[in-house]
Amino acid sequence: MFDRPESGERAILVHLTLRAGQEDLYELKELAKSAGAVPAHVVTGTRQRPDPKFFVGKGKLEEIKSEISIHEADLVLVNHALTPSQERNLEEALGVRVVDRNGLILDIFALRAQTFEGKLQVELAQLKHLSTRLIRGWTHLDRQKGGGIGMRGPGETQLETDRRLVSNRIKLIQRRLEKVAKQRSQGRGKRKKSETPSVSLVGYTNAGKSTLFNTLTGANIYVADQLFATLDPTLRSCSLDNGADIILADTVGFIRHLPHELIAAFRSTLQEASEADLLLHIIDANAEDREDTMFQVNQVLADIDASEIPQLEVFNKIDLLDNVEPHIDLDDMGKPVRVWMSAVTGAGTSLLFQALAELFSNTKVKRKCYLQSHQGGVRANLFNYARIIDEKGTDLGGWDLSIEIDKKHLGLLKDIKVEKMGL
Ligand code: GTP
Repeated sequence: MFDRPESGERAILVHLTLRAGQEDLYELKELAKSAGAVPAHVVTGTRQRPDPKFFVGKGKLEEIKSEISIHEADLVLVNHALTPSQERNLEEALGVRVVDRNGLILDIFALRAQTFEGKLQVELAQLKHLSTRLIRGWTHLDRQKGGGIGMRGPGETQLETDRRLVSNRIKLIQRRLEKVAKQRSQGRGKRKKSETPSVSLVGYTNAGKSTLFNTLTGANIYVADQLFATLDPTLRSCSLDNGADIILADTVGFIRHLPHELIAAFRSTLQEASEADLLLHIIDANAEDREDTMFQVNQVLADIDASEIPQLEVFNKIDLLDNVEPHIDLDDMGKPVRVWMSAVTGAGTSLLFQALAELFSNTKVKRKCYLQSHQGGVRANLFNYARIIDEKGTDLGGWDLSIEIDKKHLGLLKDIKVEKMGL
């Protein structure tokens, strides 16, 4: 369904510097390549605000038209979100397909989706994107023929159908996704009971998450020098030096200005991260905009309520830096906060394992416990076997307790409602 065209489509890339919401031109090139396009030429420009009809101005439109004919391009990729009518007007004026930034990202996700859930989520996001474009007069470029960037996934068939069919399909996919989400949360429940700590790899796209994941687990998942090589959360268990097991989860790469419709589509991937005990924040130590990408990742983490989860930073790709040896940075308390390493050469891998083992060496865990009035016996046990940090009586005669307890006594909590409280 998501086959790439055999030879890349030649694309004219359009990037305007607007007063607000400036996008990164370098990232557009990477996105275009990830979608299998061959960037033939870049048209840039500056505008105070987008033209309501064509997004670009008249002069720029002529320039793009002439570049299309010089380079015999089949496609124009615009590094901004276009309104459906801007996209249609541009296609009419230019005579080739025009794909905006959101369409391009969706297309890459469609190429990458691996699991049943991932495919459903991409299809849903694509249908939503396309449904705004399903209007009369939208058939001038005969989108059905050929496939290609911006037309893969459901686009080829859905544009022939009317809105009623699309909305039925959207409902069907939403129902399936709810079912899958239920199954996933049951799986997570099992993991929580077994008390295996979970570690989610997060990071800006291309930072090296999949490579590190492979290095750490010996797993062999798809790695490529393309954006979004990973879409679905991939889980592996992994043993630390101190004998403890952890569950590692790889997540989709973060990007600047992730379209809102995609945040919803990838909630399951991000949810994995929002429920982790520790986040491994992978950073390309060699990237010029290193600080900015870290900031972007932390912003998205805040959006999914994951900013309180402890982080261990991994400054990856030190093989590309001069005079940096693998090492661990510690905070004032002597706790590891940053590991400098190279996932490709493997230098520093043992340090990362060491840091993880240190962070998970504590056999005591903190829990919030909600006891009902008839659970006085459990309360007495907790006073004997755990350290009580805080206790409040409830209106119904029960008790809300914050405790610190050794893992070997966690069985005492099996019949009561509990919540984790960090590492
Ligand atoms: P997304 O799936 O887009 O989120 O990317 P990712 O963060 O999973 O990155 P991935 O592991 O696919 O690596 C991206 C590119 O960086 C690949 O070409 C890797 O070979 C390269 N890479 C990863 N780690 C290192 C490293 O330590 N050193 C060098 N030199 N390259 C690395």
